[in-house]
Amino acid sequence: MVIGIAKEIKNNEYRVACTPEGVNEFVRKGHKVLVEKDAGIGSGFSNVAYQEAGAEIVESAEELYKRSELIYKVKEILPEEYKYLRKDLIVFTYIHSNAHREQTDVFLESKAIGIAYEDVTDPEGGFPLLKPMSEIAGKGGFIAAVNFSQKIHNGEGLLLSKIAGIETPDITIIGAGNAGFSAAELASQCGNKVTILDTNIKRLEEVKNLLPENVELLYSNEANLVKCMKRTDVLINCILWPKWRKDHLVTKDMLKLMKKGAMIVDVACDEGGAIETCRSTTHDDPIYYEEGILHYCVDNIPAAFPKTSTYALCNATLPYAMQIANKGVKKALIENSYLRRGLTSWNGELTLEETGLKQNRPYTTPEKALGM
Ligand SMILES: NC(=O)c1ccc[n+]([C@@H]2O[C@H](COP(=O)([O-])OP(=O)(O)OC[C@H]3O[C@@H](n4cnc5c(N)ncnc54)[C@H](O)[C@@H]3O)[C@@H](O)[C@H]2O)c1
Repeated sequence: MVIGIAKEIKNNEYRVACTPEGVNEFVRKGHKVLVEKDAGIGSGFSNVAYQEAGAEIVESAEELYKRSELIYKVKEILPEEYKYLRKDLIVFTYIHSNAHREQTDVFLESKAIGIAYEDVTDPEGGFPLLKPMSEIAGKGGFIAAVNFSQKIHNGEGLLLSKIAGIETPDITIIGAGNAGFSAAELASQCGNKVTILDTNIKRLEEVKNLLPENVELLYSNEANLVKCMKRTDVLINCILWPKWRKDHLVTKDMLKLMKKGAMIVDVACDEGGAIETCRSTTHDDPIYYEEGILHYCVDNIPAAFPKTSTYALCNATLPYAMQIANKGVKKALIENSYLRRGLTSWNGELTLEETGLKQNRPYTTPEKALGM
């Protein structure tokens, strides 16, 4: 198969889908790998490093998309890239179709095959291609809070750490999953008073043994959330909010409960999701205020840490990309039900129920679309 590794064009996106080591794996299996010129520069990989791994460097995105059968990338397809989609082109990347209606139209009209990292599952019901990025985003979310607390960044001037003789800052984290746990790890290591809320008691029990004593573990209900919102300096949202839910956990009205100078870091970043006032921001323009509360809602936090993120992402996605390349996309999807769960569009049909419900458009199951 001809695999094309694209240069990301999203704002401040420095990750690349595949490392030179990953390219070497494809080449060893007899595949042809094209790498768009400078695709790896942001992550520290030169064009020469890819050539030495066996790839051919191509000059433009247009040439890359034209010659590839499988486009292997990181972020969704942006308007500048819409024109490259075509029938049967396989696109394996984060797609987030429910958040990008126009992109979904383009996938369906072009009849390109979309397989979304974020919807691939594992036998435990987890999301293995989200997990490594969630861990990085959780820590990066706390670091963003540290950053925007600084007076030099127009913050309150509060250092999010335990300092002798001074009241310790209070950090609330909603969701004790990959991102929430990771944020709690770093925030608590800095000595803060940390509270994690989750509705899953089993998960709270698991993290109890892994986190230090300065982390309180609370069942997530409205009363506990309100209590935390009144006292917290930073609220970090790490819930994977179901795509079909139209309600919110933290409504615009509830922001009035928060202290002056408090902030919300929405790692989950679902627009109109758990945090009603969340709208995605970029690394160039990361924050905005609602009801006087600073909101940080960058939807590609790991992009700020490309050296770490590119390796972590490639380690997780490569086995699936390899299955697609080795078996052909249809066989790979039929034989691997976990990969199949990520199928978003097939031959002009939407195959992701959540997006169908959210965008009120027809959808089918991957199994029906694939004729299984
Ligand atoms: N901003 C970014 O750059 C970025 C990067 C990676 C991941 N993410 C997002 O981060 C989010 C979290 O991902 P994850 O891998 O940690 O998910 P996860 O499934 O591991 O964790 C979610 C947790 O939220 C809990 N939860 C569900 N409903 C709750 C409620 N009402 N109150 C409290 N807790 C509740 C669940 O029990 C679970 O433990 C996802 O939305 C993901 O897309 C964002």
